Amino acid sequence: MTNLLHIDASIRGGQSVSREMSAAFADAWKAAHPEGTYTYRDLHETPPPYLNGDYLAAMYVPEEQRTPEQQAAWEQTQWIRDDVRSADVILLGVPMYNYSVPASVKSWLDHVSPPEFLVDADTGEGVLVGKKVVVVTARGGSYAPGTPKEDWDHQEPLIRAILSGVGLDNDLTFIHTEMVLSYTVEKLAQFRHIHDASRENAMKAVAELAAA
Ligand SMILES: Cc1cc2nc3c(=O)[nH]c(=O)nc-3n(C[C@H](O)[C@H](O)[C@H](O)COP(=O)(O)O)c2cc1C
Repeated sequence: MTNLLHIDASIRGGQSVSREMSAAFADAWKAAHPEGTYTYRDLHETPPPYLNGDYLAAMYVPEEQRTPEQQAAWEQTQWIRDDVRSADVILLGVPMYNYSVPASVKSWLDHVSPPEFLVDADTGEGVLVGKKVVVVTARGGSYAPGTPKEDWDHQEPLIRAILSGVGLDNDLTFIHTEMVLSYTVEKLAQFRHIHDASRENAMKAVAELAAA
């Protein structure tokens, strides 16, 4: 039985393009995997806590030697580690905020990198290696190759770097919907065709990947 872990983070509710794309993936995946199980997390509704000193200490102290505060900090985010460990497919719906990811997503990523998940540098082995990861993003502008702000994309490189440390980059696909702001910012209206094409491509990619 396969398990899809679906995570959203946008603060824009029903207006959100990343939520729309991740929902399209989840619906197509469920149709293609009727026997599969499904877990949904909304990081906007339930943001993971920031890392703190008690959590850091708990990472390196055996359970029986932890202080109550360290144990509490560890247990508070056990759901994140359990979710990732039991998922076969991890789907992240990620808006771009200030050229990067929302703080809730950064916090989630921080909690996905404890020592127990780190890849062995010599063997390349790790408990999360082999899982499929799909990241659907929505951006106000465009960061495609050749665009003026190509180098300002700190979203995909950040997610890639963090996931590579825990072996979640072997089967990792990004699907971007760009120029979302062309429909709300008048000065960007000239770029609506870029958004339309990007959105159509993203929808197609999501459907194909989910059904694979
Ligand atoms: C707080 C905030 C910061 C944003 N920062 C950027 C940015 O740095 N670059 C960009 O291209 N778009 C930026 N945008 C636009 C969003 O990326 C765009 O609206 C996207 O559709 C958000 O994803 P969503 O539709 O899933 O909410 C920002 C939007 C918000 C609300």
